[in-house]
Amino acid sequence: MMTKTVRTLSLCLAFAALPAFAAEMAGTLAAPSSFASISDPAARSAAYFTEAAKVMMHPRCVNCHPAGDRPSQGEGAMSRLHQPPVTRGADGFGSVAMRCASCHQKANFDPGHMPGHEHWHLAPLSMAWQDASDRAMSAGELCRALTDRAKNGGMSGAALLSHHEKAALVLWAWQAGLREDGTARTPPPLTHDQFVDATRRWVAAGMPCP
Ligand code: HEC
Ligand code: HEC
Repeated sequence: MMTKTVRTLSLCLAFAALPAFAAEMAGTLAAPSSFASISDPAARSAAYFTEAAKVMMHPRCVNCHPAGDRPSQGEGAMSRLHQPPVTRGADGFGSVAMRCASCHQKANFDPGHMPGHEHWHLAPLSMAWQDASDRAMSAGELCRALTDRAKNGGMSGAALLSHHEKAALVLWAWQAGLREDGTARTPPPLTHDQFVDATRRWVAAGMPCP
C-alpha cells in the first residue's frame, strides 16, 4: 500500500518536472559566455544581440508582437493566426465586442489550455517584430526596430534591460501553460537568466546591431 503510494507520487513528480527539464535542456543550446571566444569586440557585441534575439524571435514573444491587427498562436507547424479572429482594438486589449480578457484570465487556465495574465494585450504596431507575412523579423531588423526610440516607447538601453529582466509578460513566456494536447507550450530557447545576461552585455557594449 505504502510502496504503491510512493511509486504513484514519484511518477507524478517525474511528470511535473518535465517542463522544467525541457527548459533546462533548451537553455544549454548556447550560453552567452561562450561568446567570449569571439575576439573582434564589435562582432562579439553584436553576437550578444543575435543570442538575445533567439528569444525575441520565438513564438512565445512574436505571437504578441504582430505586424497586423491579429495575434498569432501556436508554434512551428501549428503556428497560425489567432482563432477565433480577434483584433487589437484601439487600446491593444481587443475590440469593444471581443476583449482579450473575456477569454484570457488573470493567469493561465490549463484545463482550457488558455494562456493568461492580468495585462494580457497586444504590443502596439510600432513594436511589431513580425514582417508582413507574419514571420519573425531577422535579428538585424529586430535590433533596428528595438533601438529606435520613436518605435520602442522611448526606452533607453537600461529600460530595455529592465523590461527583459522584470516585465510580467516577458516572464510569462517561460511559464506559458499547457497546450490543448496537455504538453507545455515550448519556452524560448535560452533560460531567462541567459536572455537577461545577453541583453545586459549587449546594452553595456552600446547596443550595436548585427
Ligand atoms: C474567444 C476567446 C479568445 C479571445 C477573445 C482572445 N483569445 Fe487569445 N487565445 C485564445 C485561446 C483558446 C488560445 C490558446 C490557443 C492554443 O495555444 O491552443 C489563445 C492564444 C493566444 C495567444 C498565443 C499564445 C502563445 O504564445 O502561443 C496570443 C498571443 C493571444 N491569444 C492573444 C490574444 C489577444 C491579444 C487577444 C485580444 C486582442 C485575445 N488573444 C483574445 C482565445 C481567445
Ligand atoms: C501577451 C502579449 C505579450 C507577450 C507574450 C510578450 N509581449 Fe512584449 N510587449 C507586449 C506589450 C503589450 C508591450 C507594450 C508595453 C506594455 O504595455 O507593457 C510590449 C513591449 C515589449 C518591449 C518594449 C520595446 C519594444 O520595442 O518592443 C519589449 C522589449 C518586449 N515587449 C519584449 C518581449 C519579449 C522578449 C517577450 C518574450 C519573452 C515578450 N515581449 C512577450 C505584449 C507582449
